[in-house]
Amino acid sequence: MNYKTLDTSKTYLVTGAAGFIGFYLSKRLLEQGYRVVGVDNLNNYYDVTLKYSRLHQLESYPSFIFIQKDISDKSAVMDVFEAYKPNIVANLAAQAGVRYSIENPDAYIQSNIIGFYHILEACRHYPVDHLVYASSSSVYGSNEKVPFEETDFVDHPVSLYASTKKSNELMAHTYSHLYKIPATGLRFFTVYGPMGRPDMAYFGFTDKYFAGEPIQIYNNGDFENDLYRDFTYIEDIVEGIERLLLHTPTGEVQHKVFNIGNNTPVKLMEFIEALEKALSHALGKAVTFEKVFEPIKPGDVPATYASTDELQKAVGFKPKTSIEDGLQKFAEWYVDYYELN
Ligand SMILES: NC(=O)c1ccc[n+]([C@@H]2O[C@H](COP(=O)([O-])OP(=O)(O)OC[C@H]3O[C@@H](n4cnc5c(N)ncnc54)[C@H](O)[C@@H]3O)[C@@H](O)[C@H]2O)c1
Repeated sequence: MNYKTLDTSKTYLVTGAAGFIGFYLSKRLLEQGYRVVGVDNLNNYYDVTLKYSRLHQLESYPSFIFIQKDISDKSAVMDVFEAYKPNIVANLAAQAGVRYSIENPDAYIQSNIIGFYHILEACRHYPVDHLVYASSSSVYGSNEKVPFEETDFVDHPVSLYASTKKSNELMAHTYSHLYKIPATGLRFFTVYGPMGRPDMAYFGFTDKYFAGEPIQIYNNGDFENDLYRDFTYIEDIVEGIERLLLHTPTGEVQHKVFNIGNNTPVKLMEFIEALEKALSHALGKAVTFEKVFEPIKPGDVPATYASTDELQKAVGFKPKTSIEDGLQKFAEWYVDYYELN
């Protein structure tokens, strides 16, 4: 590795450790021998057995400590900081998902605003070397200038989910300014991979295929002007986070945001074709989804496309996994995990 190695005497607090990204980050840190305190409320937004499967893997590492708590409970957050005095915090716990924020806004304010505020308060009272937290590509809203750069105007979020993430960036900036908390926000771009989130399109399409049902594609059936997304493979996301954990922002206000995206957007229909191919390969027979085209959903954005210049400049890395390779790994994991072969 061409970046600073982690200091094994430090304690990492990973919130959302039973979640998709939190699990992979915790695993990566544990593999290297660090102490990881994982916090998660194990909510049932999606299949909880998947969260338990991830936790089960993490619990095989002796230096992993799991605490089932909700970050919207201030005293619970303070107790964790008091007991473990984490040196580095990765706040990945949040209510994720754009569409669900239309149906259930309460969950977003509770976890993403109140919960994040508690993490900031805890970092203020129990100083940390670095707070790294999840933002999202959704802060770019319907911006048309691509690729999206960190300096672009992001004051027009089109979903409450995006508003909470943009608010997190503002709150972190203020806490950094007032209390000298070094903080880095990560704008992730559509993360996918094995053990991923069942609420996301690629996972849902696969579920539908095996249930013998058609898939709904929310792109108006307009292939000329199809939606496109910068799909980013989980291992690339984790490598980006791991490098940034050691890259404490400098300057008068120690706060910075970075895109972590693939820098190679693909049309939704191309992604679906690549998923069909990956599943065909995993099953050893041709897979074609039955497709139903629907209007674009409120809150969805037409395109996401990450500039990774800042990430590369800071830590010498940019995501590199192609959708073909990444989806193949997802398809093989899915078929194996659900015993479909
Ligand atoms: N996966 C993506 O494509 C993507 C893209 C952009 C941003 N993000 C952000 O990255 C972070 C991780 O996302 P993910 O894909 O791993 O989602 P995830 O839902 O799999 O993980 C989040 C975890 O946090 C836990 N959690 C939620 N609210 C909590 C609370 N109040 N207290 C304690 N735990 C709580 C959940 O139980 C879950 O296990 C989130 O902040 C998400 O908004 C993800």
